This record gives sequence, structure tokens and C-alpha cells, in this order.
Amino acid sequence: MILGKKVALITGAARGIGAAIAERFIQEGAQVVISDVDADAGTETAERLGDSSRFYQMNIAEEEEVNTTVERIIADLKKIDVLVNNAGITNDKLLLRMTSEDWERVIKINLTGTFLVTKAVMKHMIKQRYGRIINMASIIGLIGNFGQANYAASKAGVIAFTKSCAKELASRNITVNAIAPGFIETSMTQALSEDIKQNYKKLIPLGRFGQPEDVALLALYLASDQSSYVTGQVICIDGGMVM
Ligand SMILES: NC(=O)c1ccc[n+]([C@@H]2O[C@H](COP(=O)([O-])OP(=O)(O)OC[C@H]3O[C@@H](n4cnc5c(N)ncnc54)[C@H](O)[C@@H]3O)[C@@H](O)[C@H]2O)c1
Repeated sequence: MILGKKVALITGAARGIGAAIAERFIQEGAQVVISDVDADAGTETAERLGDSSRFYQMNIAEEEEVNTTVERIIADLKKIDVLVNNAGITNDKLLLRMTSEDWERVIKINLTGTFLVTKAVMKHMIKQRYGRIINMASIIGLIGNFGQANYAASKAGVIAFTKSCAKELASRNITVNAIAPGFIETSMTQALSEDIKQNYKKLIPLGRFGQPEDVALLALYLASDQSSYVTGQVICIDGGMVM
């Protein structure tokens, strides 16, 4: 069991990539905290995944809620070894139409939310002198995209945040890495029209979108003791789209 006796907190784990990571971590022996702003879907996912998972409702953009929920998790499970900052949203619009509310909503959840949860959890990781932090970025944070200035900026921020945390926390035996997925089949990409999907597929050398399970396997590696010499990295998982 690669993650035997480890406790993992995964944000935005009610569905999509987060739920696939939770499932894979449980298969490898972890105790998993599924957290999400969506209580109905989160509870359902935790029930589906069985006794090794528990659901905690948490909106990552609300500082007070993050702090009290993380304290509750630590009180209940005694520790957090692995944090996966996975929750994220899109709110696509061309720049000319993008309002400051459109901008701020995405930055607040994707970037500030990642900061808030990391801050709340890292104190405990520092005390236990062990931790694995995995931040979900995106290839869009590396290359930008039409209609996604807010999302691209948030994910570029997550990448820079990852590297800064990696430098600050390395001496505490905490690794911090980012995963940059390309196009993965989840509710986030279901919204794209068939035409747009076909056009994107032409840009992917492997000729297809990825599955949440593909990302879960990379997260498993970064959460494991096998990756102990890897920190501050951004690993693309995108069928070769960005190389
Ligand atoms: N699907 C892709 O192609 C793709 C590509 C690159 C990066 N990503 C990133 O991967 C992560 C997961 O994406 P996904 O495709 O599984 O999306 P998804 O929409 O299927 O799942 C995201 C989850 O996050 C939750 N969430 C949203 N706002 C939240 C908040 N404020 N607090 C807590 N939870 C919140 C949602 O309720 C949902 O359950 C995101 O950070 C996304 O940006 C996805």
C-alpha cells in the first residue's frame, strides 16, 4: 500500500479529478478527507468511496471556514500528511467582456483559496516535519488561452505560489509540486462544444483528452514517499500538448 497510514485532504473532491484522486488514494491505503463546497455531491462521493473517506464541507475561498474546518479535520483524524489543492473553477469570457467580478471570482477561488488552505494545513505539517502538497494548476497557466485571462492568471499564480512554498518548506521535509493538466474529461470540459473539442484534439499529439484517473496516478506519485526528492516542479499531463 503506497499510502498506508497516510491522511490526505483533497479539495473539490466531490467530482471530476478530485474524486478520481480520492478513489486512487483510498485504493493505496490512505484515509481521505473529501472536501467540497457542494455538500450533496461531496456526501454522495464519500458514501460511494466507503469507510476510508469522510466528507467535510469547505468553501476554500472563505478564510474563517477554511481555518475552522482544517482544525476540525485535525481534531478528528489527528493529522494531514497530504494536501491536494484541487478545487477550481472557470468563468470564461473574452477580455473585452470580462468584468472585475468575473476576474475576482476566479482569482479568489483558484489562487487565494489555494493559499488559504495551504496556510491552514502547513502549520500542522511543519510540526510533524512531514508533508506532501500538490497544487492543481493547468497548462493554461503556462501558455494562456482565448477567453481565459482570469483562469490563466490564477493558474500561473498557483505555479509561482507552488515554487515559493517549495523553497520555504523544503527544510521542513515538506514537498510542494504542481500538476498542470491539459484537457481532461470532467464537467469542466463537458461544457465545451463538439467543434471546439475537435479543434483542441488536433493540438494534442496523443489525439485524445485525458481521463481523471490519468491525473490521479500522477498525484499518487507526488503524494508518495517515492517522490521525496521532487519539489517545486510543475508536471504537465496533457497528451504532449505543451512540450
Ligand atoms: N478538466 C480539465 O481539463 C482541467 C484541466 C486543467 C486543470 N484542471 C483543474 O483541475 C481541478 C479540478 O477540475 P475538474 O475538471 O475536476 O473540475 P470539476 O468542475 O469537475 O470539479 C471541481 C470541483 O471543485 C468544487 N469547487 C468549486 N469551487 C469551490 C470552492 N470555492 N470551494 C471548494 N470546492 C469548490 C466544485 O464543487 C467541484 O466539485 C481544477 O482546479 C481545474 O482548474 C482541470
